Amino acid sequence: MEYLPHYSVLNKEAVEFMVEHYQKGDWFSDLTFGAGGHTLRLLDFDSCSSVFSFDQDPEAYENGLKLLKERNLIDRVKFANTNFVNFSAAVEKEMGPDFPGFRGVIMDLGVSSHHFDKSERGFSFRFDGPLDMRMDTVNNPNTAEIIVNEYDEEQLYEIIKTFGEERFTGRIVRNILEARDKERISTTKQLENIIFHAYPKNMRHSHIHPATRTFQALRIEVNRELEVLTDVLSQIIDKLLPGGRIAAISFHSLEDRIVKHAFKGFAKERDDLQILTKKPIMATEEELKENSRSRSAKMRILQRKLDKTEEKG
Ligand SMILES: C[S@@+](CC[C@H](N)C(=O)[O-])C[C@H]1O[C@@H](n2cnc3c(N)ncnc32)[C@H](O)[C@@H]1O
Repeated sequence: MEYLPHYSVLNKEAVEFMVEHYQKGDWFSDLTFGAGGHTLRLLDFDSCSSVFSFDQDPEAYENGLKLLKERNLIDRVKFANTNFVNFSAAVEKEMGPDFPGFRGVIMDLGVSSHHFDKSERGFSFRFDGPLDMRMDTVNNPNTAEIIVNEYDEEQLYEIIKTFGEERFTGRIVRNILEARDKERISTTKQLENIIFHAYPKNMRHSHIHPATRTFQALRIEVNRELEVLTDVLSQIIDKLLPGGRIAAISFHSLEDRIVKHAFKGFAKERDDLQILTKKPIMATEEELKENSRSRSAKMRILQRKLDKTEEKG
């Protein structure tokens, strides 16, 4: 299995934030290993740091294990092939009852380039592939094909409207229902074509492809992306050391809104939590030149305050 390259977004900035209060031997957690960019930087900056990484995708996991072994880093890593919604349980099981907490936790949300660029995974309408879109292809039975062919009209409308913020949801849903009456919709190109023809003629060739928002919506539904994000944020704050930080990188407004509101809520509820980013951190011009996908990335940081004793010395 070839794992396709992924540009690690806001890598330098995220790691700089997380290591600020580092003490020798501290643990970090990377909830979204992907191609390993953030994990590797967290391991490279000091020879005594360790990382507990997660990825629900079996291909990312297999590739990651190989990479970490090849680089002789595997002894400094714990790696869980599971959804990060299982964070607390995994940490309790692997780190034991006396674990003091993480120095930093990073989440670089959404899918990797491997998902977008590998036609068999069915995330992209740029290639023909099965309508799949699952990151976890082992435990999640709910493919995009099932949603498109078996959800009722109301459910489809709700998903595309809410998760895609799609202006032409009504027309798209009508065309999907008509098409699936004739034959099962099972490929990305079939669906792309249906959506393309649901768009008004004069808007079919604008710079955002008509299928973009619907594909985003389906992906979010398939992987329950917003649900698990909301759930994990409160699990993380209970596992931070004093001075420990969460860095959350999101790629669309729905995710960013969840992170922003959750952080605000935590900082209001608890005196020991503070937001370090009034405005989200975005990619520099330099990064954008190297990777145009970084354009939509927004990073927010929340910190558990240092204990008074640690602050002094
Ligand atoms: C944007 S990529 C991360 C890239 C990584 N930071 C790097 O530098 O290579 C997101 C990765 O997180 C994984 N992922 C997304 N949501 C997840 C979840 N809820 N639980 C576990 N893994 C998840 C995806 O499978 C994907 O490999």
